[in-house]
Amino acid sequence: DGEKPLAGKTAIVTSGPTHEPIDPVRYIANRSSGRQGHAIAAALAALGARVTLVSGPVTIPDPQGVTTIHVERADEMLDAVISRLPADIAVMVAAVADWRVAASSDQKIKKKTGEAPSPLQLAENPDILKTVGHHAKRPKLVIGFAAETQTVEANARTKLQTKGADLIVANDVSPATGIMGGARNRVKIIGPENVEEWPDLSKDEVAGRIATLIAERLLSQG
Ligand code: C5P
Repeated sequence: DGEKPLAGKTAIVTSGPTHEPIDPVRYIANRSSGRQGHAIAAALAALGARVTLVSGPVTIPDPQGVTTIHVERADEMLDAVISRLPADIAVMVAAVADWRVAASSDQKIKKKTGEAPSPLQLAENPDILKTVGHHAKRPKLVIGFAAETQTVEANARTKLQTKGADLIVANDVSPATGIMGGARNRVKIIGPENVEEWPDLSKDEVAGRIATLIAERLLSQG
């Protein structure tokens, strides 16, 4: 089907941040609007894919034509993603918190006047992209993102290997770029042998191009 090249294909996309609770009213998180991940879910659906979007807490609406699962924490995001395998395509866009609070409190931690605050003990979160990239039911195409503030390309290359991804979409999220939370993005597509540099585009345009690239790859693989 020329019009809908991803008809019959399934895709899982993660988007947004994760919130890792400290106590019932406080959390630690990464900055992420979910705009790029949500746009990719919508773009894959527009090409005919059956898309599950696993979204952390965001303020933007669920995309149309996509099944959205809402989660808070990284461990919930991992469970939601794994429960949707097998799939043809995985695009892990979420800004997952690398650490969670080792023993989050069931009750609000009270401030005690005159006492030093107790330090937070952190534990490492599961790496969702890495888990999917090395899974027995690994999707045919696994794509990760790399938001960096320095040595963007070298870091992305390392990530390709360690995470078992086919492509890494790298962007420089230094505050001066305005990319974080903004409507535009400037990315490099990094594969094992090649780097493609895309111009400054809207996040919707980036999403459309990524969906097209995914369709081309899957079709050429047969
Ligand atoms: O290692 P880093 O966080 O920079 O890698 C970014 C890529 O890995 C993104 O695709 C992100 O969605 C994914 N990731 C993940 N689970 C984590 C950390 C990152 O899926 N715990």
